[in-house]
Amino acid sequence: MTSLEMSGDSAQMKPVRLIAAACNDGGIGKDGEMPWDLPSEFKNFRSHVTGVSRPGKMNMMVWGKLCWYSVPKLDFPLPNVLHAVLSTTMETVPDHAHFLCHDLDIAARLAAQPPLADLIETIWIVGGTQVYKDALKHPWCDLVYLTDVMADFDCDVFFPEFDRGLFKKQEGFPDVPSGIQEENGIKYRFQVFKKETGDAV
Ligand SMILES: NC(=O)c1ccc[n+]([C@@H]2O[C@H](COP(=O)([O-])OP(=O)(O)OC[C@H]3O[C@@H](n4cnc5c(N)ncnc54)[C@H](OP(=O)(O)O)[C@@H]3O)[C@@H](O)[C@H]2O)c1
Repeated sequence: MTSLEMSGDSAQMKPVRLIAAACNDGGIGKDGEMPWDLPSEFKNFRSHVTGVSRPGKMNMMVWGKLCWYSVPKLDFPLPNVLHAVLSTTMETVPDHAHFLCHDLDIAARLAAQPPLADLIETIWIVGGTQVYKDALKHPWCDLVYLTDVMADFDCDVFFPEFDRGLFKKQEGFPDVPSGIQEENGIKYRFQVFKKETGDAV
């Protein structure tokens, strides 16, 4: 499928959740790659994006085009996940991905309507910047998983500013390790922000 035009009411809205790791100035990437190597942080990321409540369910991951092409093909595509790549210019589904969508809302509606509606549990937004920006405004967005990498890195791509009055930092959130972690000499901590007003599911 090269593009998807969906219309009508969403039958089964799926939660739209952002997941990212950002350093001190909000940087998330440099020269098309991750600025740091944090295998345990990646393991946590993988556990969230692949996690489902019961067998037979799957999640959808939504990627910007550059992110999709930048990730190691040893790790991706992740098993048991449907991968949707966003692009306004591509015409065919990128290798190893499942869907090409022209915007986030098309991907979200795809997951909410047959035949995927009974399969998909969560839509995970995995960057880059514009995809995160669009997801933060999406009515079905309810959670932001944002690892705080407590160090300075030279970055050229940044996580967008967001309203921390609307998205409130959670304490003791389920399945999220607490406290400061350290790996390869880099300190980091897992954080979750929950949208507490609006149309979130
Ligand atoms: N630290 C982290 O957690 C993290 C997470 C993700 C990414 N990253 C890093 O971020 C960098 C890549 O991010 P990026 O922002 O430069 O690029 P990107 O979002 O991956 O790709 C940009 C392209 O994707 C398409 N696109 C993006 N948002 C779209 C939208 N909402 N609707 C339709 N198409 C959309 C557009 O393609 P067309 O021009 O074809 O329309 C756009 O030119 C890499 O360095 C990566 O390692 C880090």
